[in-house]
Amino acid sequence: MKAIEIRNKYLNFFKAHGHQIIPSAPLIPENDPSVLFTTAGMQPLVPYLLGEKHPEGTRITDFQKCLRTNDIDEVGDNRHLTYFEMLGNWSLGDYFKEEAIAMSFEFLTKELGIPVEKLSVTCFAGDEDAPRDNLTAECWKKAGIPEERIYFYGKDDNWWIAGEEGPCGPDTEMFYDTGKEPCGPDCQPSCDCGKYVEIWNNVFMEYYKSKKDGYTKLKQHNVDTGLGLERMTMLLQGKKTPFDTELFEPVMKRLEELAKVDSIESRRIVAEHLRASMMVIADGGKPSNIDRGYVLRKLIRRMARHLNKLQIDLSELSNLIDLNIDTLKEMYPELVSHRDEIKQVIIEEKDKFMKTLVNGEKEFAKAIQKAKQENKNVIDGQTIFKLYETYGFPPEITADLAEEQGFKIDTSEFETLFKEHQEKSRMGSEQKFKGGLAEQNEVTTAYHTATHLLNAALKKVVGKDVHQKGSNITVERMRFDFSCDHKLSEEEKQQVEDLVNEWIRQEIPVTVQEMKKEDAIKSGAECMFIEKYPDIVTVYSIGDFSKELCGGPHVKNTGELGKFKIKKEEASSAGVRRIKAILEK
Ligand code: SER
Repeated sequence: MKAIEIRNKYLNFFKAHGHQIIPSAPLIPENDPSVLFTTAGMQPLVPYLLGEKHPEGTRITDFQKCLRTNDIDEVGDNRHLTYFEMLGNWSLGDYFKEEAIAMSFEFLTKELGIPVEKLSVTCFAGDEDAPRDNLTAECWKKAGIPEERIYFYGKDDNWWIAGEEGPCGPDTEMFYDTGKEPCGPDCQPSCDCGKYVEIWNNVFMEYYKSKKDGYTKLKQHNVDTGLGLERMTMLLQGKKTPFDTELFEPVMKRLEELAKVDSIESRRIVAEHLRASMMVIADGGKPSNIDRGYVLRKLIRRMARHLNKLQIDLSELSNLIDLNIDTLKEMYPELVSHRDEIKQVIIEEKDKFMKTLVNGEKEFAKAIQKAKQENKNVIDGQTIFKLYETYGFPPEITADLAEEQGFKIDTSEFETLFKEHQEKSRMGSEQKFKGGLAEQNEVTTAYHTATHLLNAALKKVVGKDVHQKGSNITVERMRFDFSCDHKLSEEEKQQVEDLVNEWIRQEIPVTVQEMKKEDAIKSGAECMFIEKYPDIVTVYSIGDFSKELCGGPHVKNTGELGKFKIKKEEASSAGVRRIKAILEK
């Protein structure tokens, strides 16, 4: 059965069971700059899970385009994907465990024809927050799953929540037995050996978790389910990896024909990242140096690097995109209507990357030089990390390059730095998922420093009487209100923008000092509401043009900011103008 047939069967099955089919929400959440990408089918439905009335009723089904990038560095193995499609059915205060399980069982065994012997299920074992889910186990038994294939696990396995706060509850997961030999006498669904593959998750959402109040019961009980389409397709077709299904096969084959170097891992990375980038671009994504733009950039660059590694001419990209659109057009017609844009964005980004690659190689040459001077034959972890973070060099490329010159790389130091970095980005995406902004993350920190630069530039260009009247920062942009009696002319705007960019180009250190409030004011430090500050204050200075009382945080050097761009200048209130600006690279 092809993926599209599974999708259609699913939607029609739930339609026949009283569900309304709704379209997939875009991969880029609408009107929500605080969330990076749609990562689960329930995400666009959160208001309705919390009790708002859904216009289509209480039974909903859909396919949802999802992107999860926490494990982006794992792509290339036999299972990880960043982009995937999740099929889901929802009860918004309608049916609960019995009916949900009966429908799941019927769909798997009757519609998809999976033999009951292939299925195992898991249920929540209970703890101090919620009781053992015996009812769910009973429902499975009634449906036809024998007791010995019903397992109970704790919160780590059988509880679902997006992030740290939000609607949540015990879940029951369905597993498919691939027929592999058990890895030992204790082999069971929770085991990672590959015998059991999770195919579907039913979450019984009847709690809300808040950091403040812990778990409380929701107004209504909901069911949230998620079935990964690529994985199901692979299993039903008896394929070993999603890359062997019709979703990837044509591109994988073409890559194999074109490649001069044989690497299945690189072929998978190219195929996977190409598909994911195309889906993001079709939904309006653009590469940049922050947040979702950065994710897209990383996907495209990683793909380009692996095309290089395979020694495939990068001019093939356009044909590969066409081939991919051809493969996926029935499932995602938006790829066809965005063909030109997809090509333009990917090819432009690839070109930019090729330039960075040259710079990265220069940086690498410097590191070799330094190591030689110090009589070392090892490239340190900091350098490997910098090459990875700034120039998109994976450690394996650095290792290859190093080896050619008779050097080794210090992977253990790199691993430590990399783990810290991964942990940070994981925390970041979790935080973003729940909609709350990590206020002091890297992006907002950069915008915070840009705010000081803008303030100083306005004073130089427009006049000393310009004073800050307010500011607001999101991960997407900064907003700055200032006293000014006229609309800025095009020329003024340009000068302000140029000046900020000049300061960024000069890579000026940002310094911080603690001092008495009165001394700070005497020294000419700016501040918006003097009474708001304690007696001892921190003062941030940049060059000799910016000095502000401020709690921080700020970047260490203006060079970290990227390109500053004024998007809009408008009236805010009488005598107050407002600038919206962004940082990009
Ligand atoms: N929200 C759950 C998941 O993502 C079920 O849809 O697995």
